[in-house]
Amino acid sequence: MRSYKQFVLALLSLVPIVRGDIVSDLQGHGFEVAVPGSEQYNIASSAYNLRLDSVDPTAITFPKSPKDVSEILKICSRDRVPAVARSGGHSYVANSLGGDSGAIVIDLSSFTQISVDDNSKIAAIGTGNRLGAIASGLFAKGRALPHGTCKMVGIGGHSSFGGYGFTSRKWGLTLDTVRSLDVVLSNGTIASLSSHNYPDLFWAFRGAGASFGVVTQTHVATLDAPPSSTVFVYTWDLTAEEAANALGVFQSHAQTPKLPQEYGAEITFRKGSAFGKVSFTFIGGWYGPQDQLQSVIQPVVNKIPGTPVVQLTPGSYLDSVITLDGSGNLDTSNVTGDHDTFFARSLTVPESVGLTASARKAFTTFMSNSFNTSTTWFCQVELYGGTNSAINNVPFDATSFGHRDAIFILQLYAFTPSKLPPFPQSGFDFVNGVVDSITNNSPPHTDFGAYANYIESDLPNWQQKYYGAHYPKLQQLKTKYDPTNTFRFPTSIELSKSGPYEGS
Ligand SMILES: Cc1cc2nc3c(=O)[nH]c(=O)nc-3n(C[C@H](O)[C@H](O)[C@H](O)COP(=O)(O)OP(=O)(O)OC[C@H]3O[C@@H](n4cnc5c(N)ncnc54)[C@H](O)[C@@H]3O)c2cc1C
Ligand SMILES: *[C@@H]1O[C@H](CO)[C@@H](O)[C@H](O)[C@H]1NC(C)=O
Ligand SMILES: *[C@@H]1O[C@H](CO)[C@@H](O)[C@H](O)[C@H]1NC(C)=O
Ligand SMILES: *[C@@H]1O[C@H](CO)[C@@H](O)[C@H](O)[C@H]1NC(C)=O
Repeated sequence: MRSYKQFVLALLSLVPIVRGDIVSDLQGHGFEVAVPGSEQYNIASSAYNLRLDSVDPTAITFPKSPKDVSEILKICSRDRVPAVARSGGHSYVANSLGGDSGAIVIDLSSFTQISVDDNSKIAAIGTGNRLGAIASGLFAKGRALPHGTCKMVGIGGHSSFGGYGFTSRKWGLTLDTVRSLDVVLSNGTIASLSSHNYPDLFWAFRGAGASFGVVTQTHVATLDAPPSSTVFVYTWDLTAEEAANALGVFQSHAQTPKLPQEYGAEITFRKGSAFGKVSFTFIGGWYGPQDQLQSVIQPVVNKIPGTPVVQLTPGSYLDSVITLDGSGNLDTSNVTGDHDTFFARSLTVPESVGLTASARKAFTTFMSNSFNTSTTWFCQVELYGGTNSAINNVPFDATSFGHRDAIFILQLYAFTPSKLPPFPQSGFDFVNGVVDSITNNSPPHTDFGAYANYIESDLPNWQQKYYGAHYPKLQQLKTKYDPTNTFRFPTSIELSKSGPYEGS
């Protein structure tokens, strides 16, 4: 009896030894490895979303070269330990810490290169860069890239799963600008992916990159920075009914013939001035000639009742990036203290259905009744489609991104006023309630999806919602290129049951 117990204890004691082995295997290669208990680990293991700060990686590695990444991945694959890349660390559910505890994190903060080829205008961007540094680095050469608004977001996650900003109706998503990728695969192979080299894998990385390898550098086609830009912000305090109509105005306007691609916009809803009201903000960027802005947006502004609070910020292209970020500069060097405590969901709305009158009414009524909530919330209706959108002009099968037919992608977001834990149940209830208000009041079988850059950890049927018809092919490619399932986190592409993909 006693000896059996000792035997079991001896077996159990092997578990930490196995763990210890991977850590010691990772050490001594000339790059830092932060392990639990160290000061460096305490700082580096902190999740952007503090609601998920209990996710504890086994170790956080700081490689300095693709060869270092290759060493790390060979060890992880051999030991069947999950590995995840971290660029800006802004995953909504701590997927760049593994999503669940026990992963090896590959932190890319040393990969800070930004250069632009004089002839091709293709930029080589190390995946340790964040959007603020990229926008200012490219603008110094007169170049620009479509991307989101927050300067601290990393290019690694952003360009793996989409990358939407107000220039996207003209230039597409960040991932649409990718021309080639320097990656390391789970077996340690260092490869350059393009439409000529590993075209199937190149396809998979543009939409689902995190499941297939570590991108160390991305090569993107840059655009001429527009000569000027204007950020416009119009805010009204509306009743639920007025807000539902105003949202309808925004939607119809997006579908009017000849709407310029230089127009990008969203509606942001926040708590109104009183119960039964909602704050309605029409915000966007205009990248065409300054004197044409009013003729483009007045058809929306004139049809909304009451007097809005107006903020127009004309300036250079870079000024628009600074204005939209909101922090006053594009410095990305201070990475500490950049946190929130929140729950967010997304909803892609097919252009063929749109937000119907009854969906809009239920949505704005729900928000206008959410006056006395313990979390602060916002709901964004981002314009992806409308007339001649560059996002939707890309053929569905050109990349693995799952949404080329959305008029809108909505983001529904609740956070604690202090931005610190704990996060209350009522915050989940608000976000789930607002999603249900729309889906329950839309035509049956409307194909609502979700956006993988606003990732959730518990979304039912997430495979279909994020990737749609691309999911089976992604599974086959996963089986072919990551048979050890080394890039594994709660919403990573699952191995195929029908074997690896054999096409090209
Ligand atoms: C404040 C804020 C504002 C935002 N605004 C916008 C917006 O305007 N538009 C928009 O489209 N999105 C926006 N987002 C969402 C954002 O695009 C995603 O959170 C994005 O995935 C973050 O990328 P990251 O590199 O910072 O995150 P990380 O947490 O580092 O990575 C996210 C995921 O990508 C993987 N990954 C990261 N780097 C690599 C790599 N080099 N190779 C392979 N896989 C990698 C990670 O493993 C993880 O699964 C915003 C997010 C925040 C927090
Ligand atoms: C970085 O930002 C945090 C949080 O905003 C702040 O507390 C800290 O002082 C900043 N550090 C530096 C060096 O500016
Ligand atoms: C608002 O919420 C607080 C705390 O939850 C509660 O005490 C108060 O009665 C509520 N007020 C209204 C008007 O519902
Ligand atoms: C690693 O995987 C790649 C892609 O499948 C393959 O081409 C290469 O031969 C593999 N290398 C080894 C050492 O197995």
